[in-house]
Amino acid sequence: MAETKNIVVAEHICKSYVGVQALDDVSITIKEGEIKCLAGENGCGKSTFVKIIAGVESCTSGTILINGKDCTKHSTKDAIDEGIQVIFQDLSLFDEMSVADNIAMNKLIKDGKPLTNKKDIQKIATDTLNLIGVDIPLDAKIQELSIANRQLIAICRALALDAKLLFMDEPTTALTKNEVDRLLDIVLSLKARNIAVVFISHKLDEVMRIADSITVIRDGHKIGDYAASEMDPHKLAYYMTGREVTYQQYERNCKENENLLEIKHLCKEGNFQNISLDVRKGDILGLTGLLGAGRTELALSLFGLNKPDSGEIYIEGKKVSITCPQDAIDHGIGLVPEERAIQGLFLSKSVNENVGAAILKRLTGFIGTINQNKSRTLAKEAIGQFRIKVYNEDTLINTLSGGNQQKALIARWAASHPKIFILDTPTVGIDIGSKSEIYEYIQSFAKQGIGVIIISDEVEEIVSNCNRVIVMFNGEIVKEYSEEEMAAPDIREQINTLVESGKKKVQEDR
Ligand SMILES: Nc1ncnc2c1ncn2[C@@H]1O[C@H](COP(=O)(O)OP(=O)(O)O)[C@@H](O)[C@H]1O
Ligand SMILES: [Mg+2]
Repeated sequence: MAETKNIVVAEHICKSYVGVQALDDVSITIKEGEIKCLAGENGCGKSTFVKIIAGVESCTSGTILINGKDCTKHSTKDAIDEGIQVIFQDLSLFDEMSVADNIAMNKLIKDGKPLTNKKDIQKIATDTLNLIGVDIPLDAKIQELSIANRQLIAICRALALDAKLLFMDEPTTALTKNEVDRLLDIVLSLKARNIAVVFISHKLDEVMRIADSITVIRDGHKIGDYAASEMDPHKLAYYMTGREVTYQQYERNCKENENLLEIKHLCKEGNFQNISLDVRKGDILGLTGLLGAGRTELALSLFGLNKPDSGEIYIEGKKVSITCPQDAIDHGIGLVPEERAIQGLFLSKSVNENVGAAILKRLTGFIGTINQNKSRTLAKEAIGQFRIKVYNEDTLINTLSGGNQQKALIARWAASHPKIFILDTPTVGIDIGSKSEIYEYIQSFAKQGIGVIIISDEVEEIVSNCNRVIVMFNGEIVKEYSEEEMAAPDIREQINTLVESGKKKVQEDR
């Protein structure tokens, strides 16, 4: 058999930004037709490496050979001419333009052809869509498509330019499970066409599913190159973090059994129906089920951002009315909202419905407190405790990655000592190392007598951290697992089976 060709040989790559050594002596070889996963925690330098190979940024030192040519000081055009394409996280598509135009435009420009020939455009678009086996209307506008489909259009655009090596920078961040499955299948089909893919991710399961080879980067250093066959998720987590990552199983050890929070028959048309539940001191109650099961809406109702139609809420035995976030805060309720909720629901609600500057300031208050001297210590502590990746405590929070913003929010609430702490999908997009730290914190809150509610789709997260679990579908509670039931050895399987059956039912109903 002929020896496999190297497409990229990058040696001793260093890259420094002001105050940050993003890459330090990193050497990576990428072979024709292989799927290489570049794995590492947030901020370790993965995107920087991609930008350097793609000619977007230049390295401080090191050498790059592409298809045997010296490309150390190359431009993006040089990289494209050598068949290198990048699917960046923002996709850089033209939202107002059609699917076909977006796919074909760069190819036509490259070939010096007019951008007006509809036949050419349609052919390029159809061919590449067929190549990856998906059917998206050619005349649809990008803005009408789901994120997942937009991503596929970006892939088609890359294929139209004869990509021989495709970099995908954390492509699954915004995808649902089914969309991830489809994308991974497409990656495998590209490999079958001898196109190399560098797949960047910090998600172990994805990496393990598709990789031929895995290169692990930690804090700008290459830890090693591994054949996927010699790797397992546990090892990979260890290489990525440099620590043993194990999750501590939570056990409630509080003697007081009165209810901190009690909800009776809470209803909100179109969101949830007849929800009754209770939380004691030291409980970590898991709310799982399906995306769109009404859990986020329930959390927002408890925080005064989604007025229920009927039902009652009691805190420490007293009936309360929570009509705005300030009421919730006054009753000792803290909420770390879903990331999408932070960006969408929260901000727009805050402005439009005037729930107010107050809460907005509180939620983003970390920015304020970070800049005040008296809170500097607190901010520094939080940054240290939660390993929030920032240059220093003056860094503005909105420049941080989603995961780091999330950690800052948790830290922010923790500092205000709520009685009841609700966390909506708190670890989505957060790397494994930080995840186990967040779990430790959540568990320590509960051990101090705080009542915690965690909303999560991740069964492992729920089972390790919760002493009681409620499963919701379509706005209703379908099952509650008591503390005793949670102790069953097959509890993971039980919950998994129930959730999967719910998914099937939802799909059938559609
Ligand atoms: N343009 C830049 N200016 C300053 N620092 C940067 C810049 N780009 C990246 N960094 C820093 O370099 C490090 C590596 O970043 P990045 O390559 O984006 O990591 P990853 O993609 O693995 O999450 C981080 O500490 C990041 O803050
Ligand atoms: Mg990145």
